[in-house]
Amino acid sequence: MKQTEFKSRRKQLMAYIGEDNIAIISSASTRTRNRDVDYPFRQDSDFYYLTGFNEPDALAVFIPGREQGEYILFCREYDEQKALWEGAHAGLEGATKSYGADDSFPIDDVADILPGMLENKGKVFYPMGRDSNLDHSLLEWLTHIRAQSRSGITAPGELVSLEHVLHEMRLFKSVAEIKLMKQAAEVSALAHVRAMQQCQPGLFEYQVEAELIHSFMQQGLRAVAYPSIVAGGENACVLHYIENTAKLKQGDLLLIDAGAECDHYAADITRTFPVNGRFSEAQQQLYQLVLDAQLAAIKQIKPGLPWNLAHETAVEVLTKGLVQLGLLKGKVSKLIKDEVYKQFFMHRIGHWLGMDVHDVGDYKVDSEWRILEPGMVLTIEPGLYIPPDCKKVDKKWRGMGIRIEDDVLVTRDGYEVLTASVPKTIAEIESIMQAA
Ligand code: GLY
Ligand code: MN
Ligand code: MN
Repeated sequence: MKQTEFKSRRKQLMAYIGEDNIAIISSASTRTRNRDVDYPFRQDSDFYYLTGFNEPDALAVFIPGREQGEYILFCREYDEQKALWEGAHAGLEGATKSYGADDSFPIDDVADILPGMLENKGKVFYPMGRDSNLDHSLLEWLTHIRAQSRSGITAPGELVSLEHVLHEMRLFKSVAEIKLMKQAAEVSALAHVRAMQQCQPGLFEYQVEAELIHSFMQQGLRAVAYPSIVAGGENACVLHYIENTAKLKQGDLLLIDAGAECDHYAADITRTFPVNGRFSEAQQQLYQLVLDAQLAAIKQIKPGLPWNLAHETAVEVLTKGLVQLGLLKGKVSKLIKDEVYKQFFMHRIGHWLGMDVHDVGDYKVDSEWRILEPGMVLTIEPGLYIPPDCKKVDKKWRGMGIRIEDDVLVTRDGYEVLTASVPKTIAEIESIMQAA
């Protein structure tokens, strides 16, 4: 992502904040995994969105109209020892020269410098309740400023959520963002194809996970967007199964939900296919139903249509099909009204996708489902999960978990499926697996 992109986002934010006000946002912190070992660092998405700065221990401040510069970055000072042990970091000079800050200060001095910046401001925009250190410090600084009222200094009178405006901005993807999302999608798509080709009975789920990671990294993407779900057989009925330790069995299905991250942008793909490369009749019937629901839902992605229409469409197709296959009994309209389908399809059709896999942005505006607009990206991921102990249905259906998930961009006149290159028809999947 070019620096100009971050700069134009800051400009947009500054215009929103307005003069007399101030915005503050902190970076993510490193987290200890166990003694001397940290989890891999992942920058806070909001912070990265505005700064492009990929280090912990940083704080960005935006003060529209400030004469000495509107964008201030507090960060770690350059330290040779740190560079020796941990590698490059920008330092104060890098913050201004490489990251476009107008001014930079050591993060260790934030408590001395920032209170002065808050003086005589009206509103403080910041992500409330997300960083308890910042919450705490901010209240302390405000109290300190209030104590100086007799010298004519006023403290900001209003704390405002920064997230609302920022998340509205993030919901609409720019050309540069779509390019990164397409890259994440294409890399992830190829990884899913590889997993299909490598899959066979007797492998452990984590060995298939290794194929995904191998493919992501060989294609240049180091990070996963979320822990991969590689769920054989009835493990697919556990929606967030990430153990990935079971052996894959002949005759079972395998559900893989995995995506790579490209410069902080996620892909999120699910495919379900037979471990041995050939669907049984029952698997075929249930799979085709989920696919029909997914295709029907995708057709409802178009500017001007409410976000929830895709969900309602999928629910209708699934409920009808479940009745036809004998898994549900009764009138379709009543089964939908009473939400009886929820015992087999218990999640929603999808979510916004972007820097976070479950990305930011409101789903309702003024209590109404949001209307789709060009530049939004979302997932469409219907599924059916038949609990292994579900005595109500014929034995042949029990323990099957099927989900099909694609990433969809809302375009000016409809949609574009960013993950279209992973096969999903029964014929395509069987042919690619048998050719392997
Ligand atoms: N991978 C998480 C989800 O599909 O929502
Ligand atoms: Mn998803
Ligand atoms: Mn997913």
